[in-house]
Amino acid sequence: MRVLTDPALRVAALADHLAVAGDGLRAALRDPAGIIPAIEAAGLRGLGGAGFPAHRKWAAVAAEPGPGKWIIANGNEDEPGTFKDRFLLAETPHQVIEGALVAAVAVRASRVALYVNPREAAGVRALREAAAAWEAHPLLAAVSAVVGEAVELRVVESSGLYIGGEETAAVASVQGGFPFPALKPPFPAQHGVGGAPTLVNNVETLAQAGHILAKGAAWYRGLGIGDAAGVKLFSLSGDVLRPGLHELPMGTSLRALVFEHGGGMLGGRGFKAVFTGGPSNTLLTAADLDVAMDFDSLRARGSRLGTGAMIVVSDGTSILRKTAEYVAFFAASSCGQCPPCKVGTFQVARLLERLEAGAGRPGDLEALRNLAALLPGSGRCGLVDGAATVLASSLATFPEEYARALR
Ligand code: NAI
Repeated sequence: MRVLTDPALRVAALADHLAVAGDGLRAALRDPAGIIPAIEAAGLRGLGGAGFPAHRKWAAVAAEPGPGKWIIANGNEDEPGTFKDRFLLAETPHQVIEGALVAAVAVRASRVALYVNPREAAGVRALREAAAAWEAHPLLAAVSAVVGEAVELRVVESSGLYIGGEETAAVASVQGGFPFPALKPPFPAQHGVGGAPTLVNNVETLAQAGHILAKGAAWYRGLGIGDAAGVKLFSLSGDVLRPGLHELPMGTSLRALVFEHGGGMLGGRGFKAVFTGGPSNTLLTAADLDVAMDFDSLRARGSRLGTGAMIVVSDGTSILRKTAEYVAFFAASSCGQCPPCKVGTFQVARLLERLEAGAGRPGDLEALRNLAALLPGSGRCGLVDGAATVLASSLATFPEEYARALR
């Protein structure tokens, strides 16, 4: 079943989009009060990685007074192994905008920032063209009439930094500042762009909204497997035969993703592990192949679905090397506001690099274990937690690789 990746939605012209879609926005306009209950009944969760119930965030923004509320459609995506939002933005910009406008009607927001990573030039271009077409279309005027203010669509290019995707950093970017994450609460829902209530949602979350309104909450919920609702874009990469973007029912097993949809392991190699999420969560191993990939099942397993990125590693590939690579990315991406994050991720990266190069010293493993225990919770955003989690998990799951490197 293709919902977000339906080829009919991969169109540049708004008229072509509205020929096959648009019913979601029309339904939203007919019954604005019914939108948030539909999003709740559908079981839509935040697909940028946290899985927060979308209706709760939407209701929080709706409860705040206007005018001048904001929506940020967050398409800054920069996590290693995650490549779903760039598809949605470049290939289906109208689908994203329609979802953002459904949200605007639901929460009565008049300013819609389409927030995109400038490195995704095709996405920026597609969004600009799409936004201009919506600006000239009577449907946008209908949205403005229901919102009670003139609704504006703005394409906002981010700084291109990884940290700019964190929601408070996104708010700072839209305000024209450096993307420094801020402490929460207050949440953007209460205090966002310029102090105005702001709904920050990942573009995949928003893209689902039009379909939910068009075809109904029960239909959407039923697309998932078991208790999981809807569909998810999985970014599959690493040692599989068919890496790429796979749209699958939420709750699909890891085994089905890797061995069925991903075509199995490259070169007949053995399956070793998966870095999930982007690579900021507890690793999955062969013992987890039958786990359902949805927020609750992976959390119950001690890991997380995150963005739905699954980086598959085969036997013969060093987990230490991959971990070193990802921690180095996080270290380079720290914004530097919180010393434990800046210094801690740098220290971990340095120790891992040394071990990997065969130059580890006695005490390095203990230092790594200490840092993995000390660092979580020491930053104002989740960056340092992600780095510490993947470190702790790889140390605990593949201790022999670390011991071997030290020898
Ligand atoms: P979070 O758990 O702090 O918040 C989740 C969302 O719920 C936020 O939008 C927050 O404002 C909202 N929220 C929570 N309580 C609320 C309340 N009482 N009222 C209104 N809103 C409330 O998680 P965070 O830091 O926003 O996201 C973490 C996730 O982001 C990670 O799971 C990670 O996988 C993902 N991530 C994604 C990246 C990407 O490239 N897409 C990059 C880095 C991380």
